[in-house]
Formats: sequence, C-alpha cells, structure tokens
Amino acid sequence: MSADLVGYAAPATLIILCSFLLYHIVVHPLLISPLAKIPNAHWTSPFVPWWILWKRYRQEELTAALKAHQSLGLIVRLGPKDLGVSCYEDGIRTIYGGGFDKPAYFNFFNCYERPNSFCSLARKDHSIHRRRISVVYTKSALFGSAQLASLTEHVLLGRLIPRLHEQASRPQPTELLGLSCSLCLDYVNAFLFGYSSGSNFLQSESGTQLWLEHYERRHCKEAFWPQELPKTTKWMNTLGINILPKGHLPSKHYLEQWMMGLCDKADEARLLADQGLLKDPADIPVVYQQVQKSVWADLNGADTQTKKSEIASELFDHMSAAREVLGLVLSYTLYYISQNQQAQNRLRSELASAGLSITISASEPNPTLPSPASLDSLPYLTAVLNESFRMRPNSRPLPRITPHDRAVSLAGIDNIPPGTRVNSFPWLVHRDPRQWDQPDKWIPERWLQGEGKGLDNKGVLWAFGSGPRMCVGSHLTQYMMRYVIAVVYSNFKTVTVKDGSFGRHPPGSLDDRLMVKFERLHE
Ligand code: HEM
Repeated sequence: MSADLVGYAAPATLIILCSFLLYHIVVHPLLISPLAKIPNAHWTSPFVPWWILWKRYRQEELTAALKAHQSLGLIVRLGPKDLGVSCYEDGIRTIYGGGFDKPAYFNFFNCYERPNSFCSLARKDHSIHRRRISVVYTKSALFGSAQLASLTEHVLLGRLIPRLHEQASRPQPTELLGLSCSLCLDYVNAFLFGYSSGSNFLQSESGTQLWLEHYERRHCKEAFWPQELPKTTKWMNTLGINILPKGHLPSKHYLEQWMMGLCDKADEARLLADQGLLKDPADIPVVYQQVQKSVWADLNGADTQTKKSEIASELFDHMSAAREVLGLVLSYTLYYISQNQQAQNRLRSELASAGLSITISASEPNPTLPSPASLDSLPYLTAVLNESFRMRPNSRPLPRITPHDRAVSLAGIDNIPPGTRVNSFPWLVHRDPRQWDQPDKWIPERWLQGEGKGLDNKGVLWAFGSGPRMCVGSHLTQYMMRYVIAVVYSNFKTVTVKDGSFGRHPPGSLDDRLMVKFERLHE
C-alpha cells in the first residue's frame, strides 16, 4: 500500500465512525425511528436516557410523568426507547393484556435469590408461579373460607378493638399509617401462615418500628441502581464497588430470616392440620399450605433448601403488599372518612339499616361477624372503597417491554419497535381531568348511580392492574377493608387532628403523619 493511501485511511475511518455514531445517536432516533413521532418529555429524551434516569433516582418520576402527560398528551417519550402511556383504551389495555414481559427492573423483588409471581419476567415463568397461588385468592374461596372468617374475628375483635379502646382513652391522637401497617401485616400474615404462626405487630409498637426500619433500609432510595441499571450495578459489584448503603444487606437478611421463621412455624401448623390436630381453624396456614404443596410438586428434584426458599420468596412478596399497598390505602381511607363526618354517618347508618353493625360493648364483647357477602353488597361502603382506591393507588409505574418479535401500536402511534420500555401509572390514570370531574377530591358519591350531582366520570378504576398479571390480592384486599371499616365505624367516631401532615410527602412514603382521634360510641 502506498504511503498516500495509508495517510487517507485514518481520516476516512474517523469520518465513517463519526457518521455511524451521528446516524445512530442523532439522525435515527430524532428523524427515522417510529418513536420520533412521539412528543419528547425532555429535549434529550430521543438521544440519551439521562433525564428520566435522574428523575427516577430522585424519586420524582411520578411528578415528571404527570407534567409530561398534561402538556404533551397520552403518550410521551421519556428516553430513547422508554415511553409513558396514560390512556386505557389503545394503551394500557394492550400493554397489560398479555404479551408484554416485565423488564429486569423487577429482579430486585427476588428474595433468597428465587423468583416469585410478582418478579417473574417472562410470561411462561409467570404462569407457573401464578398457578401456584391463585386458587386461594379467588372471591369464592375467600367468601367460603372458615379460616379467614375465624382469623378476621381474632385479629379485629381480639387485637384491633382493644388497641383502639386504648387509643381512645389517651388524650393524644393516633397516627394512622403506623397503626394501619401493623394491622395489615398481622391480618395478611394470619391468612398466609395461620393466626398463631403469623406476626403480632398490633400488640407491639416497638416491634413494628424495628421491622419498618429494616423494611425501609431494604427498599432504600439506592435500590434505583439494581432496578434501573442492573448491568452497570453488576459490573460495579464485580469491581468490588457496592453502591447500596451498608445497612441494606443486613436488613435484607434480617427480613429474610424473619420470614423463614414464619414459614417454619406455618410448616409445623400444616403438619398438625394434616393430622387433624389443629383445634382453631384460624391457625390453618391457608396460603402457605397451598404454595408448599405446589412448590414440592413443581420442584420435585430440587433440594429442600431450594424449595423452602422458593416458598418463602413467594410469601415474602404477599406480605410486602400489606406494607406497600394495603397498609397505605387503608390508612388514607380511614383518614378521608375522618375528614368527612357526613360519609362517616352514612356508613354507620348503611350498616345499621342492613342489620350489619358490629357493636362491641361490655354486655356484648364478642358479637358474631356478618358474612362477607352481606358486607360486599353495601353500595356506600363499595363507593368509599372505590373512591379510596382511585385516590391512593400504587404510586409507582408498572414497566413492561414491548414483545421481542413484533412492532405494536399504542395511543395512535404505529410501529413501536420490539424491546421498548413502556410505563403507566395507576395514579395518573385515576387523576386524568379528561376522565374524572374534580379528580383531586375524594367524592364516594361519584360511584353511586344517580348521586354524582353533575359529575361526569368516564375513567377506569385501575388500582389492581389488569390482564394476567392483575393483583392476585384484590379480593382479599376488599374483604379485609370491608371488615375493618365495618368494625371501626360501628364502634368509633374518628376526627382528624391538625398537627399532622397529609399529602406533603411523595405518595407511597410513610412520612406523612395522618393524625386522628378515636372516640368510643359505646361503653
Ligand atoms: C390496596 C391493596 C393492593 C393494591 C392497590 C395492589 C396493587 C397491585 C398491582 C397494581 C399489581 C400489578 C403489578 C404489575 O402489573 O406489575 C399487583 C400485583 C400483585 N399483588 Fe397486589 N395490590 C394490593 C394488595 C395485595 C395483597 C393484599 C396481596 C397479597 C396478599 C397482593 C399480592 C399481589 C401479587 C402476588 C401480585 C403479583 C401478581 C402477578 O404478577 O401475577 N396484593 N398488585
């Protein structure tokens, strides 16, 4: 080769490389990609993911997505292959209807290095996990469950009512987020593991505090790294750099050991139940029993430790729902009711006129609870629940990946390529002013035929997700919340107290202080 040619080779290679980069980093994402038609949430969105990653790191994604959708419409481009979608028809219905897998973001929810229903990514894996649990959570199974009826009595009459009597006798108000977390953990754990094998946070405020501290450390802000940048985090780990705070791992281990302890106790109860030696139906570990049976059948050749971890991973996730969603929704529901004496009186009179009040007094300390079906048929109670699910759903997005083998159409945009991340927030769907009148106001009447007083609501309630990965605990949630509200408002009046903070912190945090005073209605 002549010296002249060698002299041209270097600049030519540089030009080809620059053109290649220019095409892939600027021209294609900005002008040629089908995603170029979608409005950009930030000017950098077509080129680099940094803007949305920064928002996610700062836990400001919900606010950023809200602003973007309000100003740009139903579909927005958050990053080069990262979209926000906020319409139900032609959007959410398609994304969550099946065929869109979960991204690696969900691997963070693995426990004991084993997947569970919530964090299994691909459709096939998910259906194996889901099959193991769904049977015990159907509405008919719950309504017919003698165990659930019995443990409801134990948790609500045996633990909650005495705690509320004590709170009512104190001059200080009660903080609802903490109370509701303890109650929901105990109630859900009793169903998972049996009443005697479950937790008892309602009778231990300091125990709850310690547990919550570990839980917050496990789900710390820095979880952003393994969730959003799993490959970078893995790579840093191989270099010996651990980006998670020091307390994360010990707290993760603490919670996993605690959960394994509950599983071990439930296993003893299961063996006693098999021999017909359990006297109280409340002690039957309903969910544990079901998951244990399925895991032992599915992982036939695996060692005992693997099977135990697989069971505990699944149950850990169900227990988490008591803190992450049920505990939060219940506390805000009680707070909304406390702010609205009219709603409270209406609930009380609906229960009384249907003969379903659960009045506890010195002469009647253990009243018989009404059936779940009778509480399920109360229209105003149903409206209160729906409105509270609308106002306080999960505040996180539920990311999915478009199918790897075909392009899809969403919100009027065709040819969205395989492997694109799409995100929808129940929170945004429920507060869209195009769908809901006065979306920021808690108005249960909007759910009652002929009572909406001029309200024009067209929106869809999407608190529990939809499609094959819809929340498996939605009927249990309804069941538990109906009993809690019926028991509380048959016996107490609740009023808000001013020295708290409501709605000042990001949704999902436990930092709000929902202060209320419980006042006894009967001695
Ligand atoms: C107010 C209460 C609750 C709300 C708002 C809620 C919300 C949700 C949502 C939106 C999903 C879908 C996640 C996704 O598509 O990525 C989900 C899934 C799930 N929820 Fe709930 N949840 C609640 C209570 C519960 C309870 C009490 C349990 C169990 C005891 C539970 C267990 C689960 C499980 C296991 C999944 C994963 C289902 C799957 O992927 O097949 N949830 N929940």
